[in-house]
Order: sequence, then C-alpha cells, then structure tokens
Amino acid sequence: MILGICGSPRRMATEYILAEALKILEEKGFRTNLFTVRGKNISPCRHCDYCIKNARCVIQDDMLQIYQLLGEAKGLIMATPCYNGGLSAQIKAVMDRTRAAMAADPKALMRKPGMAIAVGGDRIGGQELAIQQVHTFYILNGMIPISGGFFGANLGATFWSKDTLEDIKKDEEGMRSLRKTLRRFADTLHWLEAMEK
Ligand SMILES: Cc1cc2nc3c(=O)[nH]c(=O)nc-3n(C[C@H](O)[C@H](O)[C@H](O)COP(=O)(O)O)c2cc1C
Repeated sequence: MILGICGSPRRMATEYILAEALKILEEKGFRTNLFTVRGKNISPCRHCDYCIKNARCVIQDDMLQIYQLLGEAKGLIMATPCYNGGLSAQIKAVMDRTRAAMAADPKALMRKPGMAIAVGGDRIGGQELAIQQVHTFYILNGMIPISGGFFGANLGATFWSKDTLEDIKKDEEGMRSLRKTLRRFADTLHWLEAMEK
C-alpha cells in the first residue's frame, strides 16, 4: 500500500492534488491510502523521550492511526501546503511524531521510497524548500527520496494554487511535475519489488 499524507487542514488544493496522485498510482496497479490531518488531533512532539524508553508515544491522539499505516506502507507521499515559505506545521508535527515509530523499530521506514508534493498560493512561494524539508525527513529515516528529474520537476511535484481549487486544476506545469515524479516513484517501487523476489 502507498500512503499519502495530506498536511493541509482544509479540503482544498493540497488534498485535491494528493488524491489525483493516488488515482494515477491506482491506475498503475498500486493500492493506496490517503490520510489527511484535516479534522484530526495531532499534537506536536513534546520531546519527553517517553518513546525512547517505552517504544511508543505517550500522546494518545490521531497519530496512532499513522503509526499503523506507516508500518503497512511500501512507499510514502507527503503533500504539504506552503506556509511561510516552507511546509505546514501540521505535516511537521507528523514528521516529528514519527520519532516514536523509529523508537519502536529503527528500520520502520528504511529503504521505502518517498516523494513530496508542495502547493503554494504563490508561483514561487517556498515549494522547493518545503520539498527539501520533506526529503530531509526521508533521508534521516533511511528512505529513498524521489525527484521528478530535470526539465520540470527537479525535486518533486510543485503546484501554484493561487489560493483556489479552480486554479490548481488549471496548473498544467504542476501536473507535469507530478506525473514526472510519479513515474520515477513507481519505477523505484517496481525495482524494489523485483529485488525482494
Ligand atoms: C499561514 C499561511 C501561510 C502561507 N504562506 C504561504 C507562502 O509562504 N507561500 C505561498 O506560496 N503560499 C502561502 N500560503 C498560501 C497557501 O500555500 C495556499 O493557499 C495553498 O493552496 C493552501 O493549501 P490548501 O489549498 O490545500 O489549503 C499560506 C497560507 C497560510 C494559511
């Protein structure tokens, strides 16, 4: 199963694009699951170190759902709106809280491919920095960060929403960057599958 995590608190551009991405993967034969932070209660990490000692998080909130899904996921897509030139606090909370999953199993995310989608209201509003922040999380956890490659999707999928759902649907360059990144993501998943056999 490929897990998509949406870091927007609204049902708007980011969630729409992540759903489109998962639809494309389904068409390629992958099973997918979309988790959104919208309407969920996911507190920031308290750095209490309870997880280091007890191999689970002390906070009993909706992050528990993600711990379960992360274990099942063969690959990860994190989608974030750009907030203040970077990723959203909501997706950052998810990343920080995975410390407990790593405490339980340091290899929980190891060698899983991960790609990122960033959606800004501005054309150049911090999409690439947001993706770099997600990729850094992937690298730290031993994952394989996936880019879309040169000529249109250097780091991953970047979108310009102009703050509306109508406009993100018209962002053809954004869709091109998404398709390019998904192609490499799917290739890597297939390659890993073949290696496992
Ligand atoms: C607190 C806040 C900060 C934002 N900062 C930026 C920004 O730095 N760059 C940008 O391009 N858009 C910024 N935006 C606009 C959102 O990225 C944009 O509206 C995006 O489509 C939101 O995703 P959503 O439609 O999934 O909610 C900001 C929005 C909010 C609420």
